[in-house]
Amino acid sequence: MSPSSGGQAGATGPPAPTPEALAFRESLRGVFPDHVAIIMDGNGRWAQERGWVRVRGHKEGTESVREITTIAAELGCKSLTLYAFSRENWKRPDFEVSTLMRLLRLYLRRELRTLMDNGIRLVAIGRLSDLPEYAQRALRETMEKTAGNTGMVLRLALSYGGRTEVADALRAFSEEVAAGRRRPDEVNEETLREYLYDPGTGDPDLIIRTAGEMRLSNFLLWQASYAEFYVTEDCWPDFRRPQFEAALRAFAARKRKFGALPADADEPAGLEGLEDVLEGAPEHSEGGS
Ligand code: FPP
Repeated sequence: MSPSSGGQAGATGPPAPTPEALAFRESLRGVFPDHVAIIMDGNGRWAQERGWVRVRGHKEGTESVREITTIAAELGCKSLTLYAFSRENWKRPDFEVSTLMRLLRLYLRRELRTLMDNGIRLVAIGRLSDLPEYAQRALRETMEKTAGNTGMVLRLALSYGGRTEVADALRAFSEEVAAGRRRPDEVNEETLREYLYDPGTGDPDLIIRTAGEMRLSNFLLWQASYAEFYVTEDCWPDFRRPQFEAALRAFAARKRKFGALPADADEPAGLEGLEDVLEGAPEHSEGGS
C-alpha cells in the first residue's frame, strides 16, 4: 500500500504493483483498459446448476466482486464499474431483492478494509433513493470513508438503468434551463454528459458480460459507444483471476479505431472506374433500357 496522498484522514493511494502484475501488463504490451465495466450475470444459473437456491449464487458472486476488484486495482485499472442491480431487477421476488440489498450492506461492511488497503474510492450510480434506507446509509458511509482514496474508482451501479440515466440528465438540464442557468441551444454531447450520474469518470474501454448473453441490458447506454465488448460463458461466481486475465488479453488483441482509420492506412488498389460509378456514368447506371 502506498502512503496517504493527503486530503481525507486515513486516505490511501493505489497499491504498489506486484512483480506478477507488472509482468502481466508487460505481456499485454501496454494495451490495457483504463476503465472496465462488468455485467455480472449468471448467479442464479450457477446456484441452480448445483441444486441450490438462486441467492446462494449472489452470495458467491460477492466473492468474485472482491477478487476482481482487488486484481483490477493491483493491475492499475483506473475505474471498475459493476452492474450490481438494475432498475428491472426490482421485478424479482421480494426475497431475492431483499437478500441482494442485505448482501450489499454486508459487502460494504466487510470490504471497507479491502477498499482502504487498495486505495479504492467507492462511488454509487443509479436511482439510489430507490434503495432501502439501510443500504443507502451503508453506501453513504463507505463513500465518505473512501472519498479521499486516490487509486481506482469502484462504481457500483444500483437501481441503475441507462435510459433512466439519460432521462435524469435531460430533466436536470431542463431544470437549469427553467432556472435561467442554461440555454436550450447549449445541449450537445459534452454539456449533456455533465448531467450524467458520474461525469468525472471516463467511458468504459472494455465491457465484460458473464454467462453468455449477447446483450447490453440497459447498461451504460451513453458511455458504451466505443467500448470493446467481451462475453464469456462463465457465470459470475466462476469469474476469477484467470477469466479476468483472459478478458484483458482479448482486449489487448483488439484494434480500436473509433470510426477512423489508422494514419498509415494504405490507399486501396483497384479504384479504376470508381469515379465513373460515382459520377453515374451510363455503363454503371441502374435500370438500363
Ligand atoms: C445477475 O445474475 C446478477 C444480479 C442481478 C446481481 C449481481 C449481484 C452480485 C454479484 C452480488 C451483490 C453485489 C455486490 C456489489 C455486493 P442473475 O441472478 O440474473 O443470474 P441468472 O441469469 O442466472 O438468473
